[in-house]
Amino acid sequence: MSRLRARIIGTGSHLPERRLTNHDLARLVDTSDEWIFSRTGIRERRIAAEGEFTSDLAVQAGRNAIQAAGIDPATIDLILVATTTPDLIFPSTASIVQHKLGLSHTRMPAFDVQAVCAGFMHALSVADQYIRAGTCWRILVIGAETATRILDWSDRGTCILFGDGAGAVLLEAELDGERGILSTHLHADGSQIDLLLTDGGISRGLAPGGGMGVLRMQGNEVFKQAVKAMESCVDETLAANLISKEQVDWLVPHQANIRIIQSTAKRLGMPMERVAVTVDRHGNTSAASVPLALDEVVRAGWIQPGHRVMMVAFGGGFTWGSALVRW
Ligand code: ACO
Repeated sequence: MSRLRARIIGTGSHLPERRLTNHDLARLVDTSDEWIFSRTGIRERRIAAEGEFTSDLAVQAGRNAIQAAGIDPATIDLILVATTTPDLIFPSTASIVQHKLGLSHTRMPAFDVQAVCAGFMHALSVADQYIRAGTCWRILVIGAETATRILDWSDRGTCILFGDGAGAVLLEAELDGERGILSTHLHADGSQIDLLLTDGGISRGLAPGGGMGVLRMQGNEVFKQAVKAMESCVDETLAANLISKEQVDWLVPHQANIRIIQSTAKRLGMPMERVAVTVDRHGNTSAASVPLALDEVVRAGWIQPGHRVMMVAFGGGFTWGSALVRW
């Protein structure tokens, strides 16, 4: 029987110009470069400029992926944007991106997917299902965030962690090919919402100080849950594909904290030379972190045809998920 598989034919990313170093942060809150780097692995992060929105970062990343794939963008059947920091409550950032890419005339569907830091894994999984079902041929999947817009800049436990950016992949359906997305695995556990959330919103009303709310996190509890979830997702992905950990060539994990990345790598028996790491320069860019890291290792030429690439992420919700790709 014939089988359709979603192959990644192009990757792209984009970061805002402005860098905020740990030393800069030490002038804002009671912290130090030494504390931040030793606990998280972060040295600096990028901050979107005034008037620069999530959709702007997404459009640049999307353009770069389209260019890498070398395709006519009018042939894209669907645009998915994973974000927790949309330009507006509505319309979706994906609709705005479609228009800014000059693709409104195609009438292709475009919608957002929201699963916080695991958002890109969710969007990729949705795209994979559309391709497997034969509904779409080409899909642009973007993870984009202006996470620094939902931070409390007086809370040293959270404001040191996040950054802005966007990453994208272009998927194309291939009939009976060996390459492409082998499997995706998604999970959610809504029972511990209070550990990681925003303190205001739309239906529940504004945050205590007014505004749409800022990120609140019990970092050490979230840390433990993230390690457990990412490790179990790696095990699940290996088992579902009947492969051993030695058969995975690259790990592209969510970039929240270098210690979480190291524990996931250890579970896979993966040396750090084969783990995509951007957390030192980007911080946690939420849904953008996995595609940003992927684009970096792809453009460096480190991922080669035939390599098996494991992507895995964990975020608020809690939500977590993985994808195994044969490059
Ligand atoms: N500088 C100096 N001291 C600090 C800072 C700071 N920036 N932040 C916290 N501290 C202090 C705390 O006040 C505390 O002091 P105390 O012992 O006197 O009370 C001490 O450092 C230890 O605090 P912890 O929160 O226990 O520190 P921990 O080692 O857990 O590191 C961190 C905190 C970096 C936030 C870590 O817990 C973490 O990375 N958590 C996971 C984040 C994550 O994965 N999030 C999921 C995705 S995010 C999303 O989906 C939106």
